[in-house]
Amino acid sequence: MSRLVIVSNRVGIPDGSARAGGLEVAIRPALKKSGGVWFGWSGKVSDKAPKPATTVVKDDVSYVTVDLQKDDYEEFYNGFANRVLWPILHYRLDLAEFTRRDLGGYFRVNEFFAANLEKVLEPDDIIWVHDYHLMPLAQALRARGHKNKIGFFIHIPFPPPEILTALPNHERLIPALGNYDLVGFQTDTDANNFSRYLATEVGLKSVGQDCFDYDGRVTQVGVFPVGVETEAFAKLARRAVETPFVRDVFQSLSNRAMIIGVDRLDYSKGIPDRMNAFERFLMNFPDWHNNVTYLQITPRSRSDIQEYADIAKQVGEAVGRINGNFGEASWTPVRYINKAHSRTALAGLYRVSRVGLVTPLRDGMNLVAKEYVAAQDADDPGVLVLSRFAGAARECTAALLVNPYDQEGVATAIHRALSMSLEERRQRHAVNYRALMRNDLSQWAEHFLDTLAAPPQPMRMPVRASVRR
Ligand code: F6P
Repeated sequence: MSRLVIVSNRVGIPDGSARAGGLEVAIRPALKKSGGVWFGWSGKVSDKAPKPATTVVKDDVSYVTVDLQKDDYEEFYNGFANRVLWPILHYRLDLAEFTRRDLGGYFRVNEFFAANLEKVLEPDDIIWVHDYHLMPLAQALRARGHKNKIGFFIHIPFPPPEILTALPNHERLIPALGNYDLVGFQTDTDANNFSRYLATEVGLKSVGQDCFDYDGRVTQVGVFPVGVETEAFAKLARRAVETPFVRDVFQSLSNRAMIIGVDRLDYSKGIPDRMNAFERFLMNFPDWHNNVTYLQITPRSRSDIQEYADIAKQVGEAVGRINGNFGEASWTPVRYINKAHSRTALAGLYRVSRVGLVTPLRDGMNLVAKEYVAAQDADDPGVLVLSRFAGAARECTAALLVNPYDQEGVATAIHRALSMSLEERRQRHAVNYRALMRNDLSQWAEHFLDTLAAPPQPMRMPVRASVRR
């Protein structure tokens, strides 16, 4: 059997020295099952000359990491990846700050990754590259002569060509994805957007279902929505409610209903809009005053980037305004916390919350939404209020789906969720839980890797310039 080599910007090194966020949740079970290599950035920034990669081995997995130089960190990570690609791929052209220097840094770090990765590669390794930081990595590896099967999965949204073409030098970057054998997306919409880009902007010909001819090689496009480990998370939540931490939080509510939001501090998560919607809810439904507590857990992220500092200020001000206007000596409507919490703590908090409020302005999938559903007590479940612009909305169809830009609508949905009958809550939860079970995380990696290993689909139709119907 071929060895699995995972490549991503962040690596979840098991000694706790580096974490990889939502991506880690998705990848970890696949590596646990098959073993292999996880290659990427150590999370360290150095101003000395580049050192050789460091390897940590644990449970059949080699974690191979490299440090980034200061310029690399600025131009590649803060610059092109997070000040250009992140906003554009989240449909926020207004926030993109393109410079040629950052673009150069982005390609340079992809070259640097390829140069270090090839030192550990074997000819029949299956390579699975993750996320927007590493779009040109396969091109860099192919240029070095590597013929391995290489797959790419993008965890975040992929916008239509009408938006993507506003990215300066998109014609250098996006077609480079054709060097992968398989390019995977969270939703049909994302995959269609990519196929449409290949057909209309690059003029690639379709050579079978969801397959394109790229310089004589076949690139396949697929949809692989990331799931969660549903039953394991449900079990964790059942146990977590008994921990002293969750008990303390629950007791501190004094019988008030809890609403929970958990997001990285990122403008794509729509936290200021959500605060405004909660404020609107308190204005429109005064019966809930003193009867509800909204807990928003928001670890800080990418703090070197101005837009992230701006969003931190906006959210802090909104929380202060709401608590100042509506709070009482014995009641704080919003509890706002920037500390990261363990999975166990979150699982328990989800289970004791009457409402899960997940309202990103745009999100590839959003695993908080799925974990909230998995954590509920099926006999007395809470209600998920979910943005229609999160990938999870395709599966959690029985959530209260909202438009996060419509604050009145979100306010009404919060009221509806808090007032919902037990019977309706059970019905909605059962539908969402079944959807999670149908697309459990255990099958996600297997499905992607089986598709990558299989020969591309045979030609089913005459060659034409667009494939996905
Ligand atoms: O896919 C988006 C993502 O890479 C997630 O894996 C992770 O939760 C988040 O972004 C981490 O961002 P950063 O590595 O910039 O802290």
